[in-house]
Amino acid sequence: MARHARGVCLVGVALVVAAAATVVESRQAPTLPEIMRQKLEHSQRLLEGLVLENFDMIERNANDLRILSDLSSWNVLRTPEYLRLSSTFRDTADRLSRSALNTNLDAATLAYVELTLQCVECHKHVRGVRQARGLADRPWPDLAQLVPEHVKSPDSARR
Ligand code: HEC
Repeated sequence: MARHARGVCLVGVALVVAAAATVVESRQAPTLPEIMRQKLEHSQRLLEGLVLENFDMIERNANDLRILSDLSSWNVLRTPEYLRLSSTFRDTADRLSRSALNTNLDAATLAYVELTLQCVECHKHVRGVRQARGLADRPWPDLAQLVPEHVKSPDSARR
């Protein structure tokens, strides 16, 4: 009987593992333009949350922005400046969601303004790099391909 139960349990584990593997495989990584569009939507929702004093909305959207900026495809550029800007952006998004959790509307609003400045700052940097490399008119994937192999993360070097 105990042996039978163990067998059932093992089948259960195998099913769960198989299901998890299917979920991972079927989930396509979002493309760069998709991520960037979502960024814009979340920041618009943030503003909505702030003006309506809806802390839940603020917290959720700041969190989503934080998660989006963690995705590897966000890191198309690997200049030290770009990495610094990404990391500052994540810190600010964290501060924004913490302020919402503490129901501190002023702190959240301030963090939102800083976050917006950081959107513009990073975009300025990205445009500058593209121009310097003569890529201003080319679509995005070209830029990622330009990054020297040794500068890429171990993951992307293997691909
Ligand atoms: C750390 C750098 C960085 C930060 C911070 C950043 N972006 Fe971007 N963003 C990029 C890059 C790289 C692209 C892709 C280049 C392009 O399409 O011009 C991009 C593209 C976009 C696009 C164009 C997407 C399309 O349709 O092609 C939008 C919209 C956008 N970002 C919105 C935002 C908003 C809103 C914020 C702030 C909440 C933000 N970004 C912060 C790097 C950044």
